[in-house]
Amino acid sequence: MIENDFIPSSYKYEKEQGRVQWKAPSNIALVKYWGKKQNQLPANASVSFTLDECRTVTSVTFTKLDKANKEFSFDLLFEGKSREDFKPKIVTFFERIEKYIPFIRNYHFSINTSNTFPHSSGIASSASGMAALALCLMDIEKQMASEMDPDFFYKKASFLARLGSGSACRSIKGNLVQWGDHNEIIGSTNLYGIPYPYPVDEVFKSFQDTILLVHKGQKSVSSTVGHDLMHGHPFAKNRFEQAYDNLIRLRSIFTEGNLDDFVEVVESEALTLHAMMMTSIPYFILMKPNTLNIIEKIWEFRRATKNHLCFTLDAGANVHLLYPNNEKNEVNKFIKEELIAYCENEQYICDRIGFGAKKM
Ligand code: PMV
Repeated sequence: MIENDFIPSSYKYEKEQGRVQWKAPSNIALVKYWGKKQNQLPANASVSFTLDECRTVTSVTFTKLDKANKEFSFDLLFEGKSREDFKPKIVTFFERIEKYIPFIRNYHFSINTSNTFPHSSGIASSASGMAALALCLMDIEKQMASEMDPDFFYKKASFLARLGSGSACRSIKGNLVQWGDHNEIIGSTNLYGIPYPYPVDEVFKSFQDTILLVHKGQKSVSSTVGHDLMHGHPFAKNRFEQAYDNLIRLRSIFTEGNLDDFVEVVESEALTLHAMMMTSIPYFILMKPNTLNIIEKIWEFRRATKNHLCFTLDAGANVHLLYPNNEKNEVNKFIKEELIAYCENEQYICDRIGFGAKKM
């Protein structure tokens, strides 16, 4: 598909008003997207686990305006409170997607959104938030179209979500989602995320993700700035090649259920992401001392038990612990006894691989 395929020719029905509601999950990348081109196109392909527990629930009430507005017409409640400071992000999102859903000028939207994970937990809500909003808008568009193929619906929702926040395009479907052109991954595209198109061993379908909340404050450098610093980065070319190769490696790892190799790829990806931050100009560090303390503990634990607990990081200090379901008891004991001491207020979130967004 190409971008123009997402521009509707006309709408069959005019809706005066209505309400839609969707919940969309967060996701955690295994091969990281870091660096982007114009229009939210990724510099390298990535793959992620869709999560289950960490979600955004968004409802949109829409009312037809007497005439199309110059400004986008919407109000926004976040966790029951009006948040003017969130509005510019939505305006930017609307500007980017207007071409693809032209009806947005003709309506007033009341957006009501909340997260299942604690606010200011340092967990990015942009992926689940943009995915849930994109799905609501697609649901409205679907009501105005004469018919819409479900496959097209989800592809376009992912396409729109990407224009809100790149990684949000991986928060529509489960349980493993691939995003970005890759010559050796069939159906892959920069435009939207696709369900992982190759066989995946059962062990990965019940994987656990415990998120250790190491630092709950605002990040010192935003993802947008971080992505930008990959332009002219001395290691960018090698990094993009490495991501490409890791996706090839993961293909057989997923099929064979090879957990040792999985651990190696995933941890290397996490550390490389942060290495890119540390070697940007200007350089920056988002990990905290306790991020490193946790990593040390994980390595000790793995040496001692020979199990398959590994970590990954997103653009922040929190640590995602990934492990197979059948190692859950031993790992949970270890988390409680050894790791929660490194979490802010001993807080952590127990999540697992999930199966995608749902209409409510
Ligand atoms: O979607 P963004 O622009 O917030 O970027 C996400 C970047 C990482 O979380 C660090 C990696 C990824 O692939 O999700």
